[in-house]
Amino acid sequence: MVDAYAAAAQYYDLLHAEQSAARAHAMLAAAEVRHGILDLGAGTGSVFATLAAEIPDVPIVAVEPSVGMRTALYARLAADPALRARTTVLPETAERYASAEFADLALCLGTSPAFPPPYRPDIWERVRTALVPGGLFLLDEPQLTEPVAQEPRELGRVAVGTHTVVGSVRGEPAGQRQWWEYRYTVLDAEGEVLSEEETEFYTWPVSPDELRTELADAGFVVKDDIAYEGGTLIQALR
Ligand SMILES: C[S@@+](CC[C@H](N)C(=O)[O-])C[C@H]1O[C@@H](n2cnc3c(N)ncnc32)[C@H](O)[C@@H]1O
Repeated sequence: MVDAYAAAAQYYDLLHAEQSAARAHAMLAAAEVRHGILDLGAGTGSVFATLAAEIPDVPIVAVEPSVGMRTALYARLAADPALRARTTVLPETAERYASAEFADLALCLGTSPAFPPPYRPDIWERVRTALVPGGLFLLDEPQLTEPVAQEPRELGRVAVGTHTVVGSVRGEPAGQRQWWEYRYTVLDAEGEVLSEEETEFYTWPVSPDELRTELADAGFVVKDDIAYEGGTLIQALR
């Protein structure tokens, strides 16, 4: 299987640390965790690791299909033995994930647009099954309701020693799907390009209301959104 996140993984925390911290703090204000956390598409683990530092010592299940992302995730766990002891990593997609109830917080951040529409209802049901009664499911509000041309834009730039890592993204409609290209450029101290890598993948645009309806159909009670600097979270209660 092609790992669409392989190129992104090495730079992910460098470019997204601020957004991950903002999301985690918005979640901490909304959720009281006493049983466990399920993170679908956990990436490098940056969000759940921030949460874990602030909550009781509950088990965490991180579902992450990308080898590249898991490499960064396992490196994070290797550097934090206490987090390693409580985190189980499942190298699979959300479509294949199933569990009995154990969690009172489930997360799906930056990931739900990757789920093909026919699979989404089943995934929501599985999340619901993994939650204890009263458990909370938090997802990013989708930003793209239909495929749209996206001009190239910079995601961020970060100094690493004498070099600078620059991330950028562009997109195009591709039928019902959205095509994305993420580009990572490393510049030397003089601003000359040292390396350039791209990765491409597709997502399925969905409107926030459609997503809320799907969650309600799966048995969740959809509550008021949580707005934070940089985005909005949909909250669905089991
Ligand atoms: C944009 S990253 C977000 C990572 C992390 N949730 C965060 O907010 O930092 C999307 C993640 O979703 C994962 N992903 C893609 N398709 C998936 C699927 N079908 N099931 C579970 N995870 C998936 C990717 O491997 C990637 O790690």
